[in-house]
Amino acid sequence: MSNRIATLNLDNDTVVELPVYEGTLGQDVIDIGNLGSHGVFTFDPGFTSTAACRSDITFIDGDKGILLHRGYPIQVLAEKSDHLETCYLLLEGELPNRDQKTAFENTITQHTMVNRSMEQFITGFHHDAHPMAMLCSLVGAMSSFYHDSLDITNQDHRTISAHRLIAKMPTIAAMCHKHFIGQPYIYPDNSLSYSENFLHMMFATPCEEYKIHPSISNAMDRIFLLHADHEQNASTSTVRLAGSSGANPYACVAAGIAALWGPAHGGANEAVLSMLDKIGDVSNIPEYIKKAKEKDDPFRLMGFGHRVYKNHDPRATVMRESCNEVLGVLGLENDPLFKLAKELERIALEDEYFVEKKLYPNVDFYSGIILKALGIPVEMFTVIFATGRTVGWIAHWNEMLRNPYRIGRPRQLYTGSDTRDFPPIEQRS
Ligand code: SDX
Repeated sequence: MSNRIATLNLDNDTVVELPVYEGTLGQDVIDIGNLGSHGVFTFDPGFTSTAACRSDITFIDGDKGILLHRGYPIQVLAEKSDHLETCYLLLEGELPNRDQKTAFENTITQHTMVNRSMEQFITGFHHDAHPMAMLCSLVGAMSSFYHDSLDITNQDHRTISAHRLIAKMPTIAAMCHKHFIGQPYIYPDNSLSYSENFLHMMFATPCEEYKIHPSISNAMDRIFLLHADHEQNASTSTVRLAGSSGANPYACVAAGIAALWGPAHGGANEAVLSMLDKIGDVSNIPEYIKKAKEKDDPFRLMGFGHRVYKNHDPRATVMRESCNEVLGVLGLENDPLFKLAKELERIALEDEYFVEKKLYPNVDFYSGIILKALGIPVEMFTVIFATGRTVGWIAHWNEMLRNPYRIGRPRQLYTGSDTRDFPPIEQRS
C-alpha cells in the first residue's frame, strides 16, 4: 500500500482523490472503487489497463519478456524443475523440500483414477466430438461425485479439489482422446511419473507394452510446465469471476476451459497448425504475411502477438528449444512444418508491420509442432493446454477465496433506448 493519491478533475468541478497502490513489481494501480459514487464509471473494454485483483502467484513484464512464478523465472523452472513441483510452487507459494515433493507427488498419484460413471458420460458423445467439448462437460460434471468436499469456505475442501483436478485432468484428457479414436481407455499406472502416465494413457493399448522415451516424457512435462499459469489471462479471469459467485471449483474450471477454447486464446495452438498447413510452402509465406496485415481481412498470423508481451514470450523461446530437441531425438530435424514455422518467424520478425506492432511468437506458436511430433492429434492440442493450465486456474481460485472478495459485477456504458411507450402491435412497423 502507499499514501500516494491520484487526482481526477471531473467536468462538474468535482475533484476526486483516488488512492494509488504499489506492487512488488510492475505497474502501480489507481483504486477507482469509489468512483461510481461520483456519478462516473471507468471504461476499459478488453481490460487493457485494468487490474482486477491483487495476486502473488505470477508476474509478467511484457516489455522485457519476463515471466515469474512466485518469483522464479520460467526459463529456470523449465530447466531445473518439473510440472508437479511447479504445481506445488503455484499452489503453496514455495518450492517443496524433498519430503514435501514426495508427499505431493504421492497425493496426486493417488487421485489419478476417475469414477467409472465418467465413461458413461463420454459414451454419450458422438465418436468425432471435439475433445474440448468433452473436456468442458466432463470437468463440470466432476462436482457431481464430490458432494463431501464442495464447501468453498473450507481450505481442506479447496485443497482436495485442487489435487483432484490436477490429478484427474490427464486421465480425462486421455479418455477423450481414446473415445475420439475408438480405442479402449487405459487406466493410470501409479508407477509412472505425471507426464509418463499421461503419454501411457494416451498411446498404450491392452495389446502390447508401450515404451516411453525419456526425452518424449520430459518434453511433455515441459509443455505442461510452460502452460501452468499466466497471470490474469482470459480463462483465468473467467475462473476467478465464476468463483466470485461461490460456484464450485469444477464448475469454475469448466468455465475456464470454455474460455480457453477460443482461437484467440488457448485454441491458437490448434489454429497455428491449420495455418501452417494452409500456407503449405515457404514460397507462400509473403502472401499470408500480406493477408495478416490487411485490416479488412480477418486472417491473423496465429501464434503471433500478445496482449501483454511486446517482446518475445519467454515460453516461446523455451518451446522452440524443446522443439529442436524433440525433433532431433525423433530424427525429424528436417520436419517441413518446423522449417516452415522457423522461416515464417524469421520473415515476420523482419517485417516492419510486425516490428512496429511488437508482434512476436507466443507460447502457442511452437507448441503445436512439438505436440504433432509427439503424435498428439491436433484436436487434442488445446486439451493439453487446459491440462497444464489447470493448476494456474485453481491456484488463482484458491488465492481469491483465501482473501476478502466480492462477486465480480462490471458496469457498462449504456447506449440503448431511453424510456419509451409500449406500442400496440397494430402500430408497429
Ligand atoms: C494465449 O493473455 C494471456 O496471457 C494468454 C496466454 C496464456 O498463457 O494464457 O498467453 C495464451 O492466448 C496466447 C495468444 C494466442 N493467440 C494467438 O496467437 C492468436 C493471434 N493473436 C491475436 O489474435 C492477438 O495478438 C491477441 C488476441 C493474442 C492479442 O490481442 P489484443 O491484445 O487485443 O491485440 P489486438 O488484436 O488489438 O492487436 C493489436 C494490433 C491490431 O492492429 P491495429 O488494430 O492496431 O491496426 O496488432 C494486430 C491487430 O490487427 N495484430 C495482429 C496479430 N495480433 C495482433 N495482426 C496480425 N496477426 C496477429 N497475430
